[in-house]
Amino acid sequence: MYVCLCNAVSDKTIKKSIADGATSMRDLYREHNLGNQCGKCCKDVKSILNEELLKL
Ligand code: FES
Repeated sequence: MYVCLCNAVSDKTIKKSIADGATSMRDLYREHNLGNQCGKCCKDVKSILNEELLKL
């Protein structure tokens, strides 16, 4: 499922980045340009980040 439609970034891609070491919104934004257009994905990305960090 796409989380960021503007940049065609899926939840799977975000989860992989977190598994590979991303620990902050800044890391994810830098890696995938998330939120650089409409910004509607920011809330969902933050939720995924928090959920995934709890699993580590
Ligand atoms: Fe991510 Fe628009 S949905 S910037």
